[in-house]
Amino acid sequence: MRRNIALIPAAGVGERFGAGKPKQYVEIVGKTVLQHTLDVFLNCAAIDKVAVVLSPEDNVFQTGIHEKLHVLKVGGETRAESVRNGLFALLQSGLAEDTDNILVHDAARCCLPQAALLRLIETAGACEEGGILAVPVADTLKRAADNAIDATVPRSGLWQAQTPQLFRAGLLRQALAVPDLSAVTDEASAVEMLGVHPRLVLGDARNLKLTLPQDEYIVRLLLEQAD
Ligand code: CTP
Ligand code: MG
Repeated sequence: MRRNIALIPAAGVGERFGAGKPKQYVEIVGKTVLQHTLDVFLNCAAIDKVAVVLSPEDNVFQTGIHEKLHVLKVGGETRAESVRNGLFALLQSGLAEDTDNILVHDAARCCLPQAALLRLIETAGACEEGGILAVPVADTLKRAADNAIDATVPRSGLWQAQTPQLFRAGLLRQALAVPDLSAVTDEASAVEMLGVHPRLVLGDARNLKLTLPQDEYIVRLLLEQAD
């Protein structure tokens, strides 16, 4: 039986958010950002395990004991390294097998609606090539040159990638087993380099990533709605 295993990289420092501590530990609407994110997966019956990747130096993380939750203190210098280290730890410890589905999801996307998560599992979970949540680009796009508009770029066919990104563990292991991860901006990009074309599954505008200080306002409103 193929399992659905969430892998949550949470080993970043949150430099752009600038809270004086990693943004995943900022408390919004009664819980840390990371706890909100973990709860989306822990509360989803289709998810069998949740593995969170922390920095080896992390001495802040605290959570209630949950039978589905596994803590991996193997975070790396970059997000891609954290994901690779976490995946390899899961496979080496026997917590995951090559045939399982791995759902990589940013700790900083704490407003992921359950419906979008289920849509990804149902649509991409059965596909050998895997898939990601993404939304079609809504705004008109401009290419800049010296702070002026150089050209208007057609947006047709352009999507903005979100997470979770779902792949068979074996495929993701192969995709991330490259000496240089610097070109890997998300898991899909690594899989694409193998010549595989992951599915695009409709995401949700509410699934935004807490990145800049002004994002906190919207995240707070969304979390208040959800509770
Ligand atoms: N992440 C990680 N390991 C890293 C860098 C990032 O696990 N070395 C995680 C972050 O904790 C976050 C997710 O990857 O949940 C998305 O990254 P991002 O939004 O860029 O977070 P930070 O790297 O923490 O923020 P910044 O780039 O502003 O420093
Ligand atoms: Mg970052």
